[in-house]
Amino acid sequence: MKYTQFIIAILICSVLILFCSNNLNAQNKNNIDSILSKLTLKEKIAMIHAQSKFSTPGVPRLGIPELWMSDGPHGVRAEISWDKWEHAEWTNDSITAFPALTCLAATFNPKLSKEYGISLGEEARYRKKDVLLGPGVNIYRTPLNGRNFEYMGEDPYLASKMVVPYIQGIQQNGVAACVKHYALNNQEKWRTHINVEVSDRALHEIYLPAFKAAVEKGKVWSIMSAYNQFRWQYCSHNEKLNTILKKDWNFNGVIISDWGATHNTKQSALYGLDIEMGTGTDGLTHSLKNAYDNYYMALPLLKMVESGEIEEAFIDDKVKRILGLMFKTTMNKNRSFGKMNTKEHHSTAKKIASEGIVLLKNNNSFFPIDTIKKIKIAVIGENATKKMTLGGGSSELKAQFEISPLEGIQNKFKNATVLHAMGYSSGPSIYGEIIPTEFDNKKLKKEAIEVAKKSDIILYFGGLNKNHQQDCEGDDRKSFELPFGQNELLNEILKVNQNVGVVLISGNAVETPWILKIKALIQGWYLGSITGEALAEIISGDVNPSGKLPFSFPKKLKDNSAHYYGELSYPGDSINQYYKDDILVGYRWHDTKKIKPQFAFGEGLSYTTFKISNVGANKKVYKQDDKIIITTTVTNSGDREGAEVIQVYIGKPNSKVNRALKELKAFKKVHLEKGESKTIELQLNLKDLSYYNESISNWELEKGNYTIFVGNSSQNIIKKLNIIIK
Ligand code: GLC
Repeated sequence: MKYTQFIIAILICSVLILFCSNNLNAQNKNNIDSILSKLTLKEKIAMIHAQSKFSTPGVPRLGIPELWMSDGPHGVRAEISWDKWEHAEWTNDSITAFPALTCLAATFNPKLSKEYGISLGEEARYRKKDVLLGPGVNIYRTPLNGRNFEYMGEDPYLASKMVVPYIQGIQQNGVAACVKHYALNNQEKWRTHINVEVSDRALHEIYLPAFKAAVEKGKVWSIMSAYNQFRWQYCSHNEKLNTILKKDWNFNGVIISDWGATHNTKQSALYGLDIEMGTGTDGLTHSLKNAYDNYYMALPLLKMVESGEIEEAFIDDKVKRILGLMFKTTMNKNRSFGKMNTKEHHSTAKKIASEGIVLLKNNNSFFPIDTIKKIKIAVIGENATKKMTLGGGSSELKAQFEISPLEGIQNKFKNATVLHAMGYSSGPSIYGEIIPTEFDNKKLKKEAIEVAKKSDIILYFGGLNKNHQQDCEGDDRKSFELPFGQNELLNEILKVNQNVGVVLISGNAVETPWILKIKALIQGWYLGSITGEALAEIISGDVNPSGKLPFSFPKKLKDNSAHYYGELSYPGDSINQYYKDDILVGYRWHDTKKIKPQFAFGEGLSYTTFKISNVGANKKVYKQDDKIIITTTVTNSGDREGAEVIQVYIGKPNSKVNRALKELKAFKKVHLEKGESKTIELQLNLKDLSYYNESISNWELEKGNYTIFVGNSSQNIIKKLNIIIK
């Protein structure tokens, strides 16, 4: 087929697709209007609140099905009972556990995010779920937040870039993604009521961008409101937040409350909440049987509409949005049937896991460890064997299998003698409770030191876990340091053997007082079903690490922006909390205040080396609608293939407003064979350099000088370019 014929064919197809999709939307709109005209008020009210823990009723009379939801962001949660927070004990709900979203963010690879969404969406579809309650994109403000492992790090641009493909992947299966928790849920302590005070500027520049990208670029079909308050209104029915969402961003989907996050009937009706879930009914009724009728948006709202206090039009808008979501999901005849626990899903999970693992220290090429060596390897630490898909709160998973780090090492290093010692025990991971361990930690430590004495190499698998007040929903960590006596254990091990490589399994930064004494450090995330294989591939060198930190590691807690300003800034006084760090969160804080972090945002080593050269910009002077195009040559100057992440940050010297020294505005991951060079382009829109001007409640692009920082981490800038915006 000649080129022109090919182009014509493409054009015809795209016009047809456009026509069909517009036609479908028009058809659905007609269907929605026609259904709405048939619904009674009681049927409408029934549709806007739960009928069970994870479902809302349809309208059997009209053949409208129920809407079924499920957690979570890293995999489809086991079936929960109809009315109670317990597992339904089904036998067919074991799934693939994908890596936690901090790991996905650490890949800095949006393509993998799409693959993640597709695979997870297939599993949600197969489990007959219409709404998957994820991803979470709350910004990492403090390393103590119990749920940071579920989110995409400290930078709004990185989170915005990674959340969009994930949503698209989920939704192409006819399953709604539900981006959460909108907004300012940046800690678990007092999450159900704390009132967050933050400037409009920090709200728009730091805490909302990922949600905005999810709506405007990801076209997400649902959003989950957060538990907390913002300026003394609960987020579920917060006039300011939901006006931004539904008016400024034109969100045409459904706002679903977090479970028990609804507190006011009239505000829910008027300020945009569409579906009320999980309301505790203790305060509303004593019996479960009619609990759902007593939800804020159930009988109490029905009475307000019947009395004329609330116009029925507010209910109609909610129902139309819900029907719109149903036509894309449960009433969508064209959606696939989904798949679960396939080889493809396992390989996707493994690829994301190994590409997200971050190598942070590697003295004398401690890693990789050659698999042919006949050496004694000691695998020490509870995290070498502890199941990490369990616990953590609502993102808990019933994985069909979970390969532990110990199994991964044993399977990979067949020629070595692998010795194992638990070293320490944290006790069982029970949501909401701390259960003391039944192990004798003194004995465990002694055994570990004995094993360390007779080994050539020590791989220490420690970090945090999914226990209460660790990386877990419902509360925050109590300390920045490693828990369960790990620092003492590590120091004792180092006294008898210096050849130690540490692998942290965690979703948060931790204090690393032993960093100068150990040979190597890997940040391993909660990696899901294929944990052990992914770690073993990195440790053996089968895979070259290319992950980059999605958040900073402060040297000590006081170096972190949220903790610098004391209790009122974090965790607040149990009533109010003030984000006094404002726009300076994460590396924005460290770089602007010149507080060097232990490890920087965007940092990650490789087993090869890269050279960044010939950094240039397409212009020196830019006008309003120009594009900034940065080019640079990246060379793999080492002796094996690998991938590097080129990062472009922007700063504005002598700005008329307070600004961070630099802000991430573009990144690109480039894979290079040994000796290979590639010249890459990174594009920025000028409007992305704007700041949020509170005096006009809008974005403003300041003219004048800007600095472009190009490097491979927020702290490792290879070249600075000065440009001018006229
Ligand atoms: C929880 C979480 C939310 C989850 C929901 C349902 O409280 O905050 O992320 O999706 O309830 O389990």
